[in-house]
Amino acid sequence: MTLADVSSLFTTYFNAAAEVTSHAPGRVNLIGEHTDYNEGFVFPAAINFGTAIAAARRDDGIIRVVAVDYDNACAEFSLDNIEHQPQPGWLNYVKGVCQVVRARYPQLGGANLVVTGNVPQGAGLSSSASFEVAIISTLTQLYDLNIEGIEAALLGQQAENEFVGCSCGIMDQLISALGKPGKAMLLDCRDLSQRFIALPEDFAIMIVNSNVKRGLVDSEYNLRRQQCESAASKLGVASLRDADIALLASHKATLTPDEYKRARHIITENERTTTMFDALSNGDIGKVSQLMAESHDSMRDDFEITVPAIDTLVEIIQQTIGESGGARMTGGGFGGCVVALLPKNLLLGVTKQVEDKYYAKTGLKQTIYICTAEQGAFDKNC
Ligand code: GLA
Repeated sequence: MTLADVSSLFTTYFNAAAEVTSHAPGRVNLIGEHTDYNEGFVFPAAINFGTAIAAARRDDGIIRVVAVDYDNACAEFSLDNIEHQPQPGWLNYVKGVCQVVRARYPQLGGANLVVTGNVPQGAGLSSSASFEVAIISTLTQLYDLNIEGIEAALLGQQAENEFVGCSCGIMDQLISALGKPGKAMLLDCRDLSQRFIALPEDFAIMIVNSNVKRGLVDSEYNLRRQQCESAASKLGVASLRDADIALLASHKATLTPDEYKRARHIITENERTTTMFDALSNGDIGKVSQLMAESHDSMRDDFEITVPAIDTLVEIIQQTIGESGGARMTGGGFGGCVVALLPKNLLLGVTKQVEDKYYAKTGLKQTIYICTAEQGAFDKNC
């Protein structure tokens, strides 16, 4: 749905013209998984799926939201009385964002909002971050707040950590805010500095949704985070970003087997992520292929966040593209999507192989999205 469409829906629901529209993309991570909350490196791109909002101010301190994708459900709350409630779950993202924005910008007032999005939910493509950043962009425009991309990302993360209740890192919100068209971002999650690299023009980003029903995602995610923190403290470093393989080896006896494996994933994944940037800069696709394969193996064996259907999907894709491109699971894990970076002329062949083999081997049916790298909601210079 275009911004013009969401604006015209706004007129239908609220009988008045929208004052602003905004859009924030979802993301795919090419490599660097679970490294963000370890102050390490990630390598995402914003994608051509996102959340669109049309909005206008109101002067009574009420936030009223129409969620087009939930049968046009309508809900509201007062900025003076923001409380987390189990239902509707989607409203907690709006409440959380309003709470953290208002704490810093007390001039924030009420608003009518119409929201719609096409990021597949629960697929590891950051539908939540896209929603949070789209709301922040909307409020920024409506109330002329002086919020830039990094602050927007931090506010979105804070809302999710403190209000929604997931201890996510900064990657998803930051790429949704500051992604650039045609480019992937190497993000240093310690100082939030970014380096961009254009993806090869004859390559495509293929995302394959395993459609595995995800369970226990938040609890497993939070558990991985605790295991990493515990490993870092036993290694005597502020975060696993500061550890290397030699330090890990010398402390093996003090770590539990799980802590040891989690730390090994983070240490090797950080190395792979910065190497991936160099490999793409040098056009070394063979290296890209190897790094993505190693990343997947590490997520499967050391971080233990893949599931059998995802491993099968990755194998099918890797076997078809060989060293001409790479494939790995992307996102938080326990289902979700596989990302492949591959020459455009292999798209049809890979699609056919997946169609022929994935269902036969797993009983599940995939969904395929061919993606482009897009502009973030707060990116100014493209
Ligand atoms: C989720 C979190 C991110 C990141 C990834 C794993 O998407 O929101 O912060 O930790 O998982 O890389």
